[in-house]
Amino acid sequence: MSRRPGNPARRFADGGSLPFVGSMHSKSRSSPLLSIGLLVVGAILLIGYLYSGSGGRTSDREALGNAEGGVSCTSEVQRAIPILKKAYGDSMRKVLHVGPDTCLAVSSLLKEEDTEAWGVEPYDLDDVSANCKSLVRKGLVRVADIKFPLPYRAKSFSLVVVSDALDYLSPKYLNKTLPELARVSADGLVIFSGHPGQQRVKVAEMSKFGRPAKFRSSSWWTRYFVQIGLQVNEPAIKKFEQASLKKSYKPACQVFHLQSHD
Ligand SMILES: *[C@@H]1O[C@H](CO)[C@@H](O)[C@H](O)[C@H]1NC(C)=O
Repeated sequence: MSRRPGNPARRFADGGSLPFVGSMHSKSRSSPLLSIGLLVVGAILLIGYLYSGSGGRTSDREALGNAEGGVSCTSEVQRAIPILKKAYGDSMRKVLHVGPDTCLAVSSLLKEEDTEAWGVEPYDLDDVSANCKSLVRKGLVRVADIKFPLPYRAKSFSLVVVSDALDYLSPKYLNKTLPELARVSADGLVIFSGHPGQQRVKVAEMSKFGRPAKFRSSSWWTRYFVQIGLQVNEPAIKKFEQASLKKSYKPACQVFHLQSHD
């Protein structure tokens, strides 16, 4: 019986499977055509593997958008402002944003009619734009370590929106920070956090955040909110979903809606 080198793909499909490596070795010496065939098969398999690998997670990749190095949930907050307005209406009057790059979020919020905005930057504000410096000068943006009580009275803001910041906190600090965020808000707390497996921060930025981001799953967060006694904001969730659908908005980050403390 002669093996035709012309059709190695079929051989593979027929169940030749992986143990072929050894036997091929001797064959390839006698038949250069066969080794070329094998290369082709290898390439096809590799492409197929990569393709199916990405194909299986199409929705993830879409959700991650075009950001090669990962997604910042603060830029996601900017994108979501029209949806938040639909979901929260009047509660967008006085918004506090908490998270890295808060100047960007605050600037976007300030462009909205009938919205006042403030920002808390949990890390250093170095290398910031002139616009950001001016927000700091006006007292709209301040640097504050969110592991400690926030420098605001209860219900100072109608809505508090957090992005990225919580992904860098261990449960020990989350236990302190989340109730604080709920305390300073009157009508709700919105959390934008990364998906598990999501890439975010460049290693160079790591020192700024103290530890790598830990992306928790939606079920982890949901369980955690129950554990520390924070209630989900069902009406806001519904309205946010409806508005997202209408505007074909797909958040690249997980979005949670919680009630403020009474
Ligand atoms: C956080 O708070 C919850 C609820 O009070 C408690 O069960 C949990 O042990 C706390 N976690 C840490 C790390 O302190």
